[in-house]
Amino acid sequence: MGVMRMGYVHARVTNMEEALWHYRDVLGMQVVAQQGNPTWLKSWDEWDHHSVVLEESGVGLVKAGFKVRTEDDLATFENNLHKFGVTTERMSKGDNLAVGDGVRFTTPSEHVIELYQDIEYTGTEVGIKNPPVLPRSIRGIGVPVMDHALLLAEDPALNERLFVEALDFRPAERLIVADDNPELIGTWMFCQHKTHDIAFIKGANGRLHHWAYKLRDWSAIRDAGIKFSMEDIPVGFGPDIHGLSRGETIYFFDPSGNRNEVFSGGYETYPDWPTMTWTSDKTMPAVSYIGREVAENHFTVST
Ligand SMILES: [Fe+2]
Repeated sequence: MGVMRMGYVHARVTNMEEALWHYRDVLGMQVVAQQGNPTWLKSWDEWDHHSVVLEESGVGLVKAGFKVRTEDDLATFENNLHKFGVTTERMSKGDNLAVGDGVRFTTPSEHVIELYQDIEYTGTEVGIKNPPVLPRSIRGIGVPVMDHALLLAEDPALNERLFVEALDFRPAERLIVADDNPELIGTWMFCQHKTHDIAFIKGANGRLHHWAYKLRDWSAIRDAGIKFSMEDIPVGFGPDIHGLSRGETIYFFDPSGNRNEVFSGGYETYPDWPTMTWTSDKTMPAVSYIGREVAENHFTVST
């Protein structure tokens, strides 16, 4: 049983044409459907129908979807959310293109989350029979998979408690004020084996810090950085490595101002993973382990 992964982010963009240049032509996602305003995209190594939905209506996050293993999980998590005091609603098959019915709720941080078990299974670009290690024609950076998101929350501790108690996530790492002040500044949580699937840091409710794509390795991060420079894509910071999560990383912005990340590395987690703790005096190496310097906008800009 359980939540398997973050399956989709549904985000707002200010201009669809510019957004498609960024997500399709530069990152290399494939457009799988376009019906009026929304556009549905997927990365080349993803099995499900889509992983990113873009809607021309501003900036920031509309909602995020998490895929659960079984239909029974939906009922279990729905019940857990009620026990936690969170109101839920049932979403119907077809509310989201290619997605079955599920459970929708709003986190204390005012982010809309959808849990679903059924989504059209359309397969990867390389298939399942003698698959090549890369698609024959790779577009732009060729991001293989969308991986996680970092959201802002006025009360990260409450959001952490919700994901742990109701959805069976575990914090891999946490950032607190100090040894003698355990106030939570950030929490990075996983549901299966990732370094994290969802993270919350202290900030204004409802805001998006970034969503991320996982690349093959450090040299792929370098090559992505070359592409960002070539295409004049604004880079937030990197290439660098996080102390927290040990992910090799570059942050950058889409034409609407939404922040994305490409990363590689990190570690695998397990159900008995002991949570690691960072204190705020070590925020800089937690974020930027080598450079120890991050553009101010990393801490101030969200959408
Ligand atoms: Fe990230």
